[in-house]
Amino acid sequence: MTPGARLAAAAEVLDRIAASRAPAEQVLKEWGRANRYAGSGDRRAIGELVFRCLRNRARLADAGGAEDGRTLVLWSLRLLDGRDPEEIERLFSGAGYAPAALSDAERTRLSAMKVGAEASLPGFVEADFRRRFGANWAREAEALIATRAPVDVRVNGGDREAVAGELRAARLAAQETPWSAWGLRLPAGSDVQGTVAWREGRVEVQDEGSQLAAGLAGSRPRELVVDYCAGGGGKTLALAQSGARVIACDVQSRRLDAVRPRLERANAEAELRLLGPEGEGVADLEERADLVFVDAPCSGAGTWRRRPEAAWRLTEAEVDRFHGLQVAILGRAAKLVRPGGRLVYVTCSVLGRENEDSAAAFAGAHGAFRPVAVAEAAAHASGLTEAGRARLAELAGGGHQVQFTPARTGTDGFFVALWKRTS
Ligand SMILES: C[S@@+](CC[C@H](N)C(=O)[O-])C[C@H]1O[C@@H](n2cnc3c(N)ncnc32)[C@H](O)[C@@H]1O
Repeated sequence: MTPGARLAAAAEVLDRIAASRAPAEQVLKEWGRANRYAGSGDRRAIGELVFRCLRNRARLADAGGAEDGRTLVLWSLRLLDGRDPEEIERLFSGAGYAPAALSDAERTRLSAMKVGAEASLPGFVEADFRRRFGANWAREAEALIATRAPVDVRVNGGDREAVAGELRAARLAAQETPWSAWGLRLPAGSDVQGTVAWREGRVEVQDEGSQLAAGLAGSRPRELVVDYCAGGGGKTLALAQSGARVIACDVQSRRLDAVRPRLERANAEAELRLLGPEGEGVADLEERADLVFVDAPCSGAGTWRRRPEAAWRLTEAEVDRFHGLQVAILGRAAKLVRPGGRLVYVTCSVLGRENEDSAAAFAGAHGAFRPVAVAEAAAHASGLTEAGRARLAELAGGGHQVQFTPARTGTDGFFVALWKRTS
């Protein structure tokens, strides 16, 4: 494909992504299958340009005019790549498969644009970041949306060094994660699921932030642990690693079904329970659990470095809806905690409304739950390195809740709040 044809294809894919709820990777793959003339080099170049536009969408949209694929691609060449207007004019030639020639309005805008890098988030998220991260907000935004995430895995009970050696022998550049004692980090795009170590259950794909959240909960041998929103079971496996008796619950049977093969592969055990829409199905567990772990449904904003397109599909109203659901779920799950037991709230979000606001709304209505300092939990946690214990304590600043972010911890964005039931 000519350079111009690649630009036109990227614009088309961006329009398809905007009209779809499917992950951007999937839309790109479907485009590739339907356009066989595009070789692997073309598909890679188109994919890179599409993701570059998605990661910088706010900035490109702010540059004015429309927000369709053509306009995003056009502004990206100037604003992000710093290309000369004359060169862009040659690429947008209108000849063959290249994009249609520039309009007068586009030409005028292009020559007036200021070139340089800046973070790019939807307006309501930027406002939240300014409030929560203060002077660091742009650095936080940049790390969340403009960088590619590595592939992290959790070593399933075995020796981390030995598994790292095994992955290196399979040509994957595995390095130990700094904060999780269970983790290995591989370069972005590594095909870990093609390795024998993955097939035989010695590693599970899990972001280091997710490992830290499960580790902070500190499940212990023989404890009764309820993983209340178990989903695909990523954290269930980590919670079960301690030898606790884990009951994994969810309202979606499809999600619980996915846990079964993961448990088998990891040679781990957990009971699976399907909840009714209002949390029915766990009456026998009331006031019995030593630990209830609530990995609540959320916007997933903490994972935007993996799915930048999701940032543009999220609305403030949806975040409000998640907040209401999170507070309701925490109230239901809290009933299962025995006196003296622990409750842990987790999201993979970086938004205050889903994190501090939801935790505060729960705590305000449940006086029997007392905050547990993150530093104290980190001291007793499983699976943290010494550096990890110190880093989490430092980030929490004496408090009972902590926010991990790509900028702070090099992980996906996770929030954890901890309580203990007193009576
Ligand atoms: C963030 S995901 C869990 C991810 C999972 N813990 C993991 O580590 O892979 C949230 C889960 O909450 C479940 N959920 C949604 N509404 C719920 C409810 N009312 N009660 C319990 N779980 C719910 C969803 O089906 C989803 O699987």
